[in-house]
Amino acid sequence: MASAANACSPSFSAANSSVSKPKALSDFYLRFRNINALSLRSKRVGLPVLSFSRIRSPRISASSPQVMDQSVGEASSKAPTIVEVDLGNRSYPIYIGSGLLDQPELLQRHVHGKRVLVVTNNTVAPLYLDKVVDALTRGNPNVSVDSVILPDGEKYKNMETLMKVFDKAIESRLDRRCTFVALGGGVIGDMCGFAAAAFLRGVNFIQIPTTVMAQVDSSVGGKTGINHPLGKNLIGAFYQPQCVLIDTDTLNTLPDRELASGLAEVIKYGLIRDAGFFEWQEKNMPKLMARDPSAMAYAIKRSCENKAEVVSLDEKESGLRATLNLGHTFGHAIETGFGYGQWLHGEAVAAGTVMAVDMSYRLGWIDDSIVKRVHNILEQAKLPTAPPETMTVEMFKSVMAVDKKVADGLLRLILLKGPLGNCVFTGDYDRKALDDTLCAFCKS
Ligand SMILES: NC(=O)c1ccc[n+]([C@@H]2O[C@H](COP(=O)([O-])OP(=O)(O)OC[C@H]3O[C@@H](n4cnc5c(N)ncnc54)[C@H](O)[C@@H]3O)[C@@H](O)[C@H]2O)c1
Ligand SMILES: [Zn+2]
Repeated sequence: MASAANACSPSFSAANSSVSKPKALSDFYLRFRNINALSLRSKRVGLPVLSFSRIRSPRISASSPQVMDQSVGEASSKAPTIVEVDLGNRSYPIYIGSGLLDQPELLQRHVHGKRVLVVTNNTVAPLYLDKVVDALTRGNPNVSVDSVILPDGEKYKNMETLMKVFDKAIESRLDRRCTFVALGGGVIGDMCGFAAAAFLRGVNFIQIPTTVMAQVDSSVGGKTGINHPLGKNLIGAFYQPQCVLIDTDTLNTLPDRELASGLAEVIKYGLIRDAGFFEWQEKNMPKLMARDPSAMAYAIKRSCENKAEVVSLDEKESGLRATLNLGHTFGHAIETGFGYGQWLHGEAVAAGTVMAVDMSYRLGWIDDSIVKRVHNILEQAKLPTAPPETMTVEMFKSVMAVDKKVADGLLRLILLKGPLGNCVFTGDYDRKALDDTLCAFCKS
């Protein structure tokens, strides 16, 4: 079960078992007891589906999240684990497992019409495009597949590259009954999803994420878009896919640095809402770094469960969903100030998380054991625990001033508060703590 304060609610204390005095409406004091209400039920595709029972009313939960499965979990090469994103008639399954691209029926049941456009890039295409085309067409001769191979990199996540997708779709005379398939990391998923949302005002869309970042975060939840020269992800749409297919075998070719970058988001879920998952990560980080298939599958599943639950409670980010941005305000300043492409997104988020945790401690909202544990786990994941030395207080402040979470001139931040697994989204904090954190992490 999950309990959460949302945008419509007064705020709540994070203290165990108690509801304290109401505070400013801009605050979201969040406390969850999640995941332990997973239930098995049959879905339209006739497979067992993990689903969440949801509580929409804001309520305080007295206990910390519990880990449903302390073992590393099952990584069967046959039956996929299925996590359902519960969004009414736009609900969809996330299939997770090894060898899923060798199970054509999983993909084919979500293809609409007879025409498919696979959107990928020049790194991923040589690795997996043939496999995906085979999965789409095997035993299914009526389906024809086109593909568009985009240049690789965040710097191509723009209007010009997006236009190449539309060019291909129009030249191929695709109609409204076609399906777009995103094959790649978060950049491809965000761009293909936005193209699917806009082409003919919306066509069917499937995500096949191939990075840890995309498998645990970006492919789930329907945020799609491109960058503008003046800012990241400024143009986009909420557009949910028909399914997300995560073949964990695709991670075998992922560079180490990209793997670690994705783990920053995995760690985030533990910190903001799932203490049991954080504890599991503390024990299993060496396995994740060694790409142990079972550990990786479990971390992906658990991350998807957390993301699916947050998204199903707050799809359009009126409050709760913002908590998924722990460390991102500081991190975004690092990405912008230091230049896109120098640090990977997850690396910037890791350093940003350390800064958010430092500030939470200065405010007296968490104890120092959490500060130490965050440092330890990020070090285990070989992620940065401080911003680049060239970052100045002014660089942070200028980027943070235009952050999307500024409301009425007030910068709202996601900060930890209370026992491990609890956070707040708030503009109600002592400005001195923010200044002190910036000074502590910058030389000038
Ligand atoms: N929509 C969302 O909710 C959301 C959430 C988080 C991040 N994002 C976006 O995701 C993007 C970052 O995603 P990312 O970290 O996946 O970066 P990415 O898409 O650039 O992929 C990282 C690199 O790995 C390569 N690659 C991908 N799969 C591979 C594989 N299996 N083997 C070998 N190489 C592979 C890519 O070609 C690329 O060079 C950013 O643009 C960010 O804004 C979106
Ligand atoms: Zn992120």
